[in-house]
Amino acid sequence: MTSLKSQLGSIFSQAFINLGYDGEAGVVTLSDRPDLAHFQCNGALSIAKLAKKPPRIIATQIVDHAEKIAEETFGTSALTLTIAGPGFINIIVNPELLGKLINTQSADPRLGCQKTKNPHLVVVDYGGPNVAKPMHVGHLRSPIIGDAIVRLHRFLGNTVIGDNHLGDWGTQMGMLIAALKEKTPDAPYFSENFQGEYPSSPPVSLSDLEEMYPRASKRYQEDDAFKGLVLRATNELQQGRVGYRKLWEHFVQLTVDDLKSDFNYLGVTFDLWLGESFYENLMPSMVAELKKGGFTQESDGALVIPLDASENEPMPPLMLVKSGGGFLYHTSDLATILYRVRTLKAQEILYVVDSRQSLHFSQVFSGAKKTRIAEGVPLKHLAFGTMNGPDGKPFKTRSGGVIKLKELFSLITTEARKRIDALGENRFPEPLIKENIIKQVGVATLKYADLKHRRTADYIFDIEKFSNFEGNTGPYLQYASVRMKSLLKKAADIGATPGEIIAPENDVQINLILELLKLADIVQTAFEENEPHHLCDYGFKLAQNFNSFYTECHMLKETNRERQRSWLALTQLCYRHMELILSLLGIDIPEFM
Ligand code: ARG
Repeated sequence: MTSLKSQLGSIFSQAFINLGYDGEAGVVTLSDRPDLAHFQCNGALSIAKLAKKPPRIIATQIVDHAEKIAEETFGTSALTLTIAGPGFINIIVNPELLGKLINTQSADPRLGCQKTKNPHLVVVDYGGPNVAKPMHVGHLRSPIIGDAIVRLHRFLGNTVIGDNHLGDWGTQMGMLIAALKEKTPDAPYFSENFQGEYPSSPPVSLSDLEEMYPRASKRYQEDDAFKGLVLRATNELQQGRVGYRKLWEHFVQLTVDDLKSDFNYLGVTFDLWLGESFYENLMPSMVAELKKGGFTQESDGALVIPLDASENEPMPPLMLVKSGGGFLYHTSDLATILYRVRTLKAQEILYVVDSRQSLHFSQVFSGAKKTRIAEGVPLKHLAFGTMNGPDGKPFKTRSGGVIKLKELFSLITTEARKRIDALGENRFPEPLIKENIIKQVGVATLKYADLKHRRTADYIFDIEKFSNFEGNTGPYLQYASVRMKSLLKKAADIGATPGEIIAPENDVQINLILELLKLADIVQTAFEENEPHHLCDYGFKLAQNFNSFYTECHMLKETNRERQRSWLALTQLCYRHMELILSLLGIDIPEFM
């Protein structure tokens, strides 16, 4: 089964084809005048010129045919078709058909969402924070969007490997080593011929690292002597100097534990944690292979792959080896592709990374294409914009600093607590349950705010607005879901259970069912475009439609049993939709609210 709109599209295409016209003209869209019709088809107008017939004449023929095909397809008087203006066909779906279709959808565990016809193995590269730097707000979007994309691909039947491509091998490691060496030059890590056992616990704490890193990074920019030390330390680390390797292990361990707790808080998981360092041994052999294949060139002492510029975009070469030795971000990303294609057998690779890395990925992708490392494997950069504060600049702390993820978590939790407290104390008999719900609402605030915008757009994170239980927010969708769930429970308590859905009896019910019949299209579009925001739009509209239904149709008081059971079934179906949408977005439905 597919959405109602596409089913109607097939019927109209068939009608055009039967009459000898182009089937493409059968496209059906939502009506521009929802007060007059549910859908419309403008095909008669678009082909009139070519067919050399007045569009109203064509429309009349199409209406005749489409009515018959619809009746054959659905086995009931299905559609009311009228012709408007110069030849638009207005389509009203009869209530009996709506009732029939919605029962069919309800009987399907996948709610009418078909799996992809071309299932394949997709590697999704998301998360990817850098070791030794605390995760800040700039690292938030990749795991949130990436996780939703992973869930969506899995639901549609792809096999997905989610990989957290940690930055654990670059110059920042050299900065920390050089900075620590200045502070404690006598530590065993720095002595070239140290023979003993290195200490098993790290010489610094995570907060030491967090303090050291920004200072070292600033000096690296300003102080050439220090920069020299950093580059040397990086190089020596990459060459395998034992003391430095030991230090590096400590740095990685300290940060990975902390990263895990942040990702855990967000409910984001990965199948693999293969950071840049994982490709250490693959890089030299890859470079040798590319050299042999004649793909590389020397340039000012460096080894590069020249890339073809496009008309409007110059394309700097891909850098494989720095002058003086050492691999770069380009090198590790190319090796990563090689590994994903050859070893993981990836058939598509998606990168959920900030749009500021667009040039980097254009270069890496052209390099992979040129060297035929990713033959037949689509590589896509799913870029995203910046999460800004109310001033339109990247979200900051009150004092203007970069905000760490943990600080942001604490902000959203405080806000969620305020809202939950306002609901009244006696709703939450158990403090632990209440704490968990506060966390779920806080995380929903953050994730939904991030997911409801087009990926590439920058957006302003307004914590007041996005934590509100009203409006297009995560908590609003949670609240609506909880309302559905508790309504069903209350009904069960008085012995009322969901039954067959009967044909809708008023506009509120019709609108709700029309909305529910859109699901398959929405999920498909979100999947094809890798754009979770379509799911948010849908969830929001559904919650609104349900709330109107809930206000209009007093389910618990309804005395006609058949009607009551039908309404409850509709409620249950709405809940299943919300459950699906929110689980694809990675948002929990609280036990109660
Ligand atoms: N560590 C990188 C950064 O923070 C992001 C990694 C993205 N993935 C990749 N394969 N390059 O900018």
